[in-house]
Amino acid sequence: MSRRRLIGATWCMRLAVAILVLVTGSACSTVAVTGPPVAADDELPSTEPAPPSAPPTSVLDGIFTEAQAARGRAAYDAHCAECHGEELGGGEMAPGLTGVAFRFRWRGLKVADIYDSVQSTMPPEEPATLGDQPYIDIVAFLLSANGYPTGDRELAADSRLLEGVAVERMPP
Ligand code: HEC
Repeated sequence: MSRRRLIGATWCMRLAVAILVLVTGSACSTVAVTGPPVAADDELPSTEPAPPSAPPTSVLDGIFTEAQAARGRAAYDAHCAECHGEELGGGEMAPGLTGVAFRFRWRGLKVADIYDSVQSTMPPEEPATLGDQPYIDIVAFLLSANGYPTGDRELAADSRLLEGVAVERMPP
């Protein structure tokens, strides 16, 4: 502290000698009376480490990447499109997966609900056979097909994380 203080004192004296304005005078007296300046760079109290990027809470947060949605599209074409349609419009038996049908089914729920439902029931003849990654990629594709934004993180097949992500309506 002493070095900084000395420098400060010298600086003040020079200014005092030069008889500068009132403002300077009060700055000097502050230094002289109250000791080391409080806000010097190296004397700031240590700040908290930056938090890791917070987990997403909404489908509006950009929770999957474009590449992931593209992988999901490929998996969808291979395993789902025969019943739900290439454009996701549904078929004779299978419901559509976009638009009103999507909103009506998933509104107010969590992405975990979509993932769990698809994973545990689809395709009907052999559910839970694709593997976690293709299923979560398909979920990303379904979100993308419903107009939700992409981001720079992939969506992970992690139920706890997905439990926290609300299926919100796209703003009009
Ligand atoms: C053999 C035809 C068929 C295939 C293949 C198929 N589905 Fe389905 N899917 C259906 C039918 C029929 C329903 C309606 C089931 C019901 O209401 O019980 C359905 C329902 C759904 C639903 C709504 C589930 C819900 O809980 O409301 C989703 C989402 C879905 N399928 C996604 C997929 C995905 C993703 C795939 C590919 C991994 C897939 N389906 C493959 C026939 C199929």
